[in-house]
Amino acid sequence: MKSPTRVLFVCLGNICRSPSAENVMRHLVNEANITHKIELDSAGTAGWHTGKSPDSRMSAAAAKKSYAMKGRARQVKPNDFVKFDLILAMDQSNYDDLTVVRADCHTPHAKLQLFCDFCTEHDETEVPDPYYGGPEGFDYVIELLEDGCGHLLNQIRSGKVD
Ligand code: 4NP
Repeated sequence: MKSPTRVLFVCLGNICRSPSAENVMRHLVNEANITHKIELDSAGTAGWHTGKSPDSRMSAAAAKKSYAMKGRARQVKPNDFVKFDLILAMDQSNYDDLTVVRADCHTPHAKLQLFCDFCTEHDETEVPDPYYGGPEGFDYVIELLEDGCGHLLNQIRSGKVD
């Protein structure tokens, strides 16, 4: 395993899905005692919520499963494609927007993938945007993230992501 492996999770606003992905993954990395081997961050393709804490509805869904939600929103930037090894988009629209950001990076290094490529127990291609829906949407985000982050951790540990 390349050390550390740097993973960036990206959604639209960086206040719901991607900070949850970062914090669910951080929980798994802490439990596995490999904090020195994996670096995590999250960002949004849009800058509307820059500096804000995660959405309270998202934090409530995370707290039900004992995940602490930390961090402040930031917008993704071209240099993230230099700094990170793997950039995981929550949905196809995020992915498409990220290809535009990548085009502004002179020396892109990061592999860009959809987060749901790592889901093994759910037949989804996207983590659905919960922002305009009810609480069940936020719970489902956590469920998908637990699935994908578990597999992502295994892939990184077995050297299949570098
Ligand atoms: P996220 O959710 O991309 O998962 O952080 C959203 C957050 C904010 C908005 C949309 C989605 N918004 O329209 O402000």
